[in-house]
Amino acid sequence: MSTITRDHSTGLERIDIDSDPARTQLYLYGAHVTAFQPRTAMHPLLWLSKSSLFQPGKAIRGGVPICFPWFGPKADDPAAAAHGFARTREWTLESLETIDERVIAKLKLDAGDLVARHAITIDETLSLRFAVENRGASPVSYEAALHSYFSVGDIRRVEVVGLEEAEFLDRLKPGARYRQDDRPITFAAETDRTYVNTESTVTIVDPVLNRRIVNRKSNARSAIVWNPWIDKAKAMKDFGDDEWQGMLCIETANVGENAITLPPGGMHEMGAEISCEAF
Ligand code: BG6
Repeated sequence: MSTITRDHSTGLERIDIDSDPARTQLYLYGAHVTAFQPRTAMHPLLWLSKSSLFQPGKAIRGGVPICFPWFGPKADDPAAAAHGFARTREWTLESLETIDERVIAKLKLDAGDLVARHAITIDETLSLRFAVENRGASPVSYEAALHSYFSVGDIRRVEVVGLEEAEFLDRLKPGARYRQDDRPITFAAETDRTYVNTESTVTIVDPVLNRRIVNRKSNARSAIVWNPWIDKAKAMKDFGDDEWQGMLCIETANVGENAITLPPGGMHEMGAEISCEAF
């Protein structure tokens, strides 16, 4: 049995889905999943800032915002909002149904010649499928990221496995390409990297919460790894000063050299399957 309720307490409409496999919350604003916790998990998988704004024009801080049709600053217009407009638009809910125990929400956003669809399937695993179709008469390029914020026990103690030997760009040291060594990634300072040309599953190993969060990607060749650390967290209005300790973004993406170009009539779908295993 699943119970679906609507809540307006934050000012934006939230859909709360209480199903047999998991508890989930999502907003039509941004097609944004803000909470996901399988019944078998002791702690939420997704992180959401206690200081998040829930205001038209501002992105919700946490959960899984969708960055589209560009990622980071817009290349030909630095004044445009970072990470595109999909995360600050109201999406249309096309369907919300329960099939066996699974709840499936399908949302749509018209973006000029492009139409974006986001399918959210809630089971023990959270499955996100982000598809874009070009309805125009010319080829169109875009970038996209499922900007997932994960909840961790202590960022200083987690390890990220799956990006060994992958190439990356570092937003903190731009202008060069780097290669990850053969060890898991650990964190001791601000980190803001875009790994490219990798479709590997990325796993967060968390010895404090005694679990692994597994992010399995499909048709997504980039992965962003981000933690703002102390100073940047303090500088962000919608981010608690100490909250950097309990979060880590591992994003499923096609950005930069992995941007997608769709011919007229073309379609591309990328996906993330997010699950958790206790030690
Ligand atoms: C990450 C970027 O994906 O998102 C960072 O790599 C950025 O550079 C972060 O700071 C948060 O972006 P925003 O626009 O949500 O504050």
